Amino acid sequence: MVLSPADKANVKAAWGKVGGHAGEYGAEALERMFLIFPTPKTYFPHFNVNRGSPPVLAHGKNVAYALTPALDHLEYLPGALSGLSDLHAHKLRVDPVNFKLLAHCLLVTLANPHPNEFTPAVHASLDKFLGNVSTVLTSKYR
Ligand code: HEM
Repeated sequence: MVLSPADKANVKAAWGKVGGHAGEYGAEALERMFLIFPTPKTYFPHFNVNRGSPPVLAHGKNVAYALTPALDHLEYLPGALSGLSDLHAHKLRVDPVNFKLLAHCLLVTLANPHPNEFTPAVHASLDKFLGNVSTVLTSKYR
């Protein structure tokens, strides 16, 4: 999905509001995913569902640290996320459906504390961006 200049501006502005909360939001999204869609939990029993547990907190930060630089490479996400794509597909073998679930939970997590900024246009732009990230992270399964 191609991000228009307006989408790119929306994504960058929305991420700007996240600021120092990125790791916390990443952990909340993972916690939501495990509670709302329990199946992924069965593949990664070391991930406690609680957002305060060390592995969930660590992955929350990892997601945040991975997405922040990706914003500077919106034109070429496959290159920017290539290593992570290898990791999740070949080494971890994360079921591809989980990326959509996590993206959905990230959107909810971002919308909650920023209701005024989370307009339908911003929602659409973030959804496209996370959809593109998910596409890259699941592109090496075949
Ligand atoms: C936007 C989507 C995602 C991003 C940006 C992301 C990013 C990352 C990063 C940066 C790491 C650490 C890599 C390293 O240590 O070199 C990581 C590790 C890992 N990720 Fe993800 N991830 C995503 C989605 C998922 C999903 C959906 C799952 C499974 C439900 C998952 C499971 C794991 C696991 C099991 C690890 C290994 C670390 C550990 O076991 O704690 N990731 N991810």
